[in-house]
Amino acid sequence: MKIAVMGAMVEEITPLLERFKEYERVEFGGNRFYTLKYKGIDVTIAYSKIGKVNAALTASILINRFGAQKLLFSGVAGAVDETLHIGDLIAADYLVQHDLDITVFGHPYGFVPEGKIFIKSDEQLLQIADKTASSLGLTLKRGIIATGDQFINSHEKKEWIKKTFNANAIEMEGAGVAFVCDALGIPFFILRAISDAADAKAGFDFDEFLQSSSKISADFIIAMLERMA
Ligand code: ADE
Repeated sequence: MKIAVMGAMVEEITPLLERFKEYERVEFGGNRFYTLKYKGIDVTIAYSKIGKVNAALTASILINRFGAQKLLFSGVAGAVDETLHIGDLIAADYLVQHDLDITVFGHPYGFVPEGKIFIKSDEQLLQIADKTASSLGLTLKRGIIATGDQFINSHEKKEWIKKTFNANAIEMEGAGVAFVCDALGIPFFILRAISDAADAKAGFDFDEFLQSSSKISADFIIAMLERMA
């Protein structure tokens, strides 16, 4: 079994590399990929750099160059849903691009012809996540994650995303990964731990909690890998 574990920022994958310690480093397409064997699973870890385009490129490389058969994403997100607090975990049921807008031609937000607005995550991986959460005594929320090439730090913008897509959390890569995996038939799972509330102090909170929330997410992904081994 070949599994890719991806983050967007170096901080998001550092706890994984620290946990596994022994890996090989391969450079490809302007990025670094870390390959290792864990309990019989071939694991490739990478961070894409921020944004949907970078995320889509890295997901494509993980699948086509490294042969990933499943892709797990680990990272942080801004909370839109007020029941989510810093450090809480959310797994995407569905992902959507909140900044995709050709509404002038009569299409809904997040839609382009021949596409779909919402992409569903793999149900089997979501169930593995649910079992992992209950075995660890953790709460794992499922919800809609909205992705866009913008760091959101405004109450109005956050409320618009919430109202338009019924989103629970926002970040900058998930839907890019989801669209690639969906198109190529690769089961995927997007996990985020909350780093901020996408409000006026989001920039400050993000800097403050990026590392701790990245670790919460990465530890959960490691527990999922153990279950999958
Ligand atoms: N990732 C973490 N917090 C975020 C925010 N407020 N906006 C976009 N992406 C994020």
